[in-house]
Amino acid sequence: MKTKLIAPSLLSADFGNLQRDIEMLNNSQADWFHVDVMDGRFVPNISFGFPVMKTVQQHAKKFVDVHLMIVEPEKYVEEFIELGADLVSVHYEACVHLHRTINLIQSKGAKAGVVLNPATPVLMLEDIIADVDLVLLMSVNPGFGGQKFIENTYKKISETKDLILSNNSTALIQIDGGVNLDNASKLFEAGADVLVAGNAVFSSGDPERTIELLKF
Ligand code: DX5
Ligand code: ZN
Repeated sequence: MKTKLIAPSLLSADFGNLQRDIEMLNNSQADWFHVDVMDGRFVPNISFGFPVMKTVQQHAKKFVDVHLMIVEPEKYVEEFIELGADLVSVHYEACVHLHRTINLIQSKGAKAGVVLNPATPVLMLEDIIADVDLVLLMSVNPGFGGQKFIENTYKKISETKDLILSNNSTALIQIDGGVNLDNASKLFEAGADVLVAGNAVFSSGDPERTIELLKF
């Protein structure tokens, strides 16, 4: 069954008070923790790696969704799963052997997602859609929080939905980048199952209330 899930991105959390922000999310209506890992090569920014993931593992009481924006992600997926990742998503653009990497993630007991950058067409997923647990459509160019939502994403949601249905796939559709209170309900209506929100949640005066509002 598909529902409206909210996955706040820890990229926008206060790293001086990470445990406090994780506890806030534990006590909120957030469904997943979204963990953005950036290597300064696949994307023009560096975020964090295993030490932060360890803190997430220690304190997060919900499903942990790891978004790897790194080159050669296959080298690191096992360690992220050992550190508590329930889902690992890798970029189509970063995987030479995508099918092998998806299988590797699932063989280690986690769900596997594939991510498309804004300029990568949905049709590239035709031969992998039946094997993935989630498709993450980037609605900004990855690398930074707080960017403007790219409207073409709606078209890609509908194409992804068609691809899922025509292949009897059970993949969820996740949207990441520029999600806010103005577009969240439209995105769910268009067919999104999971919305990532960083800036909208953590820059608001009342993050818990914002998470609630994003669902309606
Ligand atoms: C972008 C990251 C996103 C980002 C979302 O590269 O993958 O998860 O943190 O942030 P907002 O919601 O602020 O656009
Ligand atoms: Zn992300």
